[in-house]
Amino acid sequence: MAKVKTTFFCQNCGSQYAKWQGQCTSCKEWNTIAEEVIQKPEKSNWKSESSISIRTSKPLKINEIDTSQEARLDLQDNEFNRVLGGGMVKGSLTLLGGEPGIGKSTLLLQIALQIKNKVLYVSGEESQKQIKMRAERINPNSNNCYILTETKTQNIFKQIESLQPEIVIIDSIQTLHSDYIESSAGSISQIKDCTTELIKFAKETATPVLLIGHITKDGHIAGPKILEHMVDTVLQFEGDRNHVFRILRAKKNRFGSTNELGIYEMQGSGLREVSNPSEILISEKDGELSGNAVAATLEGLRPLMIEVQALVSTAVYGTPQRSATGFNAKRLNMLLAVLEKRAGFRLGAKDVFLNITGGITVDDPAIDLAVTAAILSSNADEALPSDYCFAAEVGLSGEIRPVQRVEQRILEAEKLGFSTIFVSKYSKISLKESSIVIKKVSKIEDIVEHLT
Ligand code: TYD
Ligand code: MG
Repeated sequence: MAKVKTTFFCQNCGSQYAKWQGQCTSCKEWNTIAEEVIQKPEKSNWKSESSISIRTSKPLKINEIDTSQEARLDLQDNEFNRVLGGGMVKGSLTLLGGEPGIGKSTLLLQIALQIKNKVLYVSGEESQKQIKMRAERINPNSNNCYILTETKTQNIFKQIESLQPEIVIIDSIQTLHSDYIESSAGSISQIKDCTTELIKFAKETATPVLLIGHITKDGHIAGPKILEHMVDTVLQFEGDRNHVFRILRAKKNRFGSTNELGIYEMQGSGLREVSNPSEILISEKDGELSGNAVAATLEGLRPLMIEVQALVSTAVYGTPQRSATGFNAKRLNMLLAVLEKRAGFRLGAKDVFLNITGGITVDDPAIDLAVTAAILSSNADEALPSDYCFAAEVGLSGEIRPVQRVEQRILEAEKLGFSTIFVSKYSKISLKESSIVIKKVSKIEDIVEHLT
């Protein structure tokens, strides 16, 4: 009997060790090293070892390389296509990560049902019946979509060979296992090996492959970090499970920009593309409420009007509470310190709560001014006019700083019927005519003056 070979892998970063140790020397995490059974594959799964060594490539002059044939597959989903950079490149590997229950399987099944090409959806998580039931809710009539429930890569490749699909979807990489490695599915060595086989398959047959990946509790894709290096594109599907909005973001993209963003709304019949997100992110209300302000932000290349809500109340305990949902808590503390020091607000004895509506998280610094305005409004308990909006960053000395592509934000605000937008005095604006009033401010005191 062949001797069983084992190696030690760090479950956090995927580094390999000859023996067990308490701390991983490469990522410095404690207690993450575990033993896994491996066996060197005698032959590879995807039948290509030989063809790879025969097909050696030659150096080419860069201007002789032909890119016109970088064919892209239309996924029949504008949001997904845009995030990928205009459709899916043939032979590429895309990894979609996200929290459990966020809708990864739903999104990819929906794409499998919509797409015009022949598609194979491999699931290691659900039965064919379960998938069929879900498909009936989404789009019951599709005749290009094949469902396979299988987890062994050898069998999957066998089916692929006989079916010849034009795109393969795998739900999920953590459930796959290869016969040549003996450790259990989801272990570092299995994930690494199965992904290598899929890459080989994708590159050789020019078939695009979409993989679903689970994430760990701190938000990284489960498995070795190297997984993200191996694939061409890493997408993240995120959102608050209690809200209906889902955001598709590219974390890495070899064929397009990572600035783009897709927005979906989870409905009873699957995910609906949201082509004009601003209109839904601003809540409808009767009359004006204190503590609300609207920010003109940009997500990717798309302007997005977002509502910020603040609640300032007297602190009951000695240490005031500060809590932020959808906004960086450290940044909130910084803005409060600026208000205290530069504008003389005594917020040190107040609880401050901040919330971005719609369950989304904003990184764009242009939201700062709206956050400040919402806090001021709640503190004074006076509502801001509901047709005001804000787009500027606030600096440590209370200066209002310009933000990128301010004109695009102004146009979006104008389109949605806002009457006034507050921007930095130093913003370069060359818009000729606009019906919206552009108020330029340079210091935090100016904004206080304007609003009171
Ligand atoms: P799912 O795709 O199974 O999540 P993941 O694969 O990321 O774990 O999504 C499950 C959730 O989506 C579930 O809580 C119900 C919801 N859902 C809808 O609201 N409408 C639908 O049409 C479908 C199919 C799912
Ligand atoms: Mg799933």
